[in-house]
Amino acid sequence: MRFFSLLVALSAAGTALAAPQQRQLPPCGKLRYFGVNEAGPEFGESQFPGQPGKDYIWPDEQKMQQFIDLGMNMLRINFLMERLIPKLTGQPDEAYMRNLTNTINFITKQGVYAMMTPHNYGRYYQNVMNDVDGFKTWWTTAATPFKDNPLVVFDTNNEFKDMDQQLVIKLNQAAIDGIRAAGAKDQIITPEGNFYTGAWTWIKSGGNSETMGVLTDPAHPGDTSRLIYQMHQYSDSDGSGSSETCVNNTVMADRLVGATEWLRQNKKQAIIGEYAGGANPTCFDAIIGGLRYMEKNSDVWLGALWWAAGPWWKNQKWYDMEPPDGIAWKEYIPKLKEFI
Ligand SMILES: *[C@@H]1O[C@H](CO)[C@@H](O)[C@H](O)[C@H]1NC(C)=O
Ligand SMILES: *[C@@H]1O[C@H](CO)[C@@H](O)[C@H](O)[C@H]1NC(C)=O
Repeated sequence: MRFFSLLVALSAAGTALAAPQQRQLPPCGKLRYFGVNEAGPEFGESQFPGQPGKDYIWPDEQKMQQFIDLGMNMLRINFLMERLIPKLTGQPDEAYMRNLTNTINFITKQGVYAMMTPHNYGRYYQNVMNDVDGFKTWWTTAATPFKDNPLVVFDTNNEFKDMDQQLVIKLNQAAIDGIRAAGAKDQIITPEGNFYTGAWTWIKSGGNSETMGVLTDPAHPGDTSRLIYQMHQYSDSDGSGSSETCVNNTVMADRLVGATEWLRQNKKQAIIGEYAGGANPTCFDAIIGGLRYMEKNSDVWLGALWWAAGPWWKNQKWYDMEPPDGIAWKEYIPKLKEFI
């Protein structure tokens, strides 16, 4: 990966040599989906229902427009299950559903995919969800308003963690079945795994690699091509995305290798639904290298979504992608343009 370091050094020095160097890169497959997360409607995660404008906030349309104008084609909208449907098998909260619908329609009207992400870690009111049938009903209710919108992508749940592996499988299958039962027959669904759905831990013994392959799509018997597995991959030492320090300048690609093999062997495809890196040379190399690795393996890797844009990072976080002042917006967007 010395070549990547050279590129960064050249562009940092602002020399005219950088551009011709870049053009000499071998051609590779493009990622089909490229975009960002929108964080805000899930903030105040222990406040139920919480107050809009105080505990949580909806994405800003003008800011979302800037990602769309850049050519990004997928935004991941994070929200809370409890706020959307306060009783698991009950009716939606009208005001919260209206705001979610407005956000999603704003995106999809422009031909861009909107991913609907209950940011719940497999929990409901902070308890592990053991009510598998109830979860299926929740998803049928949640998906019904979007059943005829082909650009809505359904994310079963954000980052299952510390849960019985069989329960994670059952909840994913219940989500899929519930979404299809709503009449959303052909849209993409992204199952997520246990262990925070980490790509680097996907092949951990007893975990996702041994079990996640069994999921089926009841609307398309024998065809799982609309189930695009969602994994997350950060480049800091514990892989949590809490530090702006990357392990080394190849870490993202290195951490994707095992999952890439699993996907290929199991004839599955995946998207990285969260990734990020600090605004420093090691991370620039790691992130750009990781995305180029995905492009080289674009038979199984279909896309990548940065964590995160949103109105409330307030330029205080290294991963803040909100225009115009977010650190990542300023430092990474010029580098990510090659992938859009
Ligand atoms: C919905 O969005 C509007 C406009 O941003 C806001 O005033 C309202 O409080 C929001 N309501 C909920 C429940 O999110
Ligand atoms: C970079 O980090 C990854 C992940 O820890 C490791 O597999 C790889 O060997 C490291 N590369 C170097 C050159 O140290």
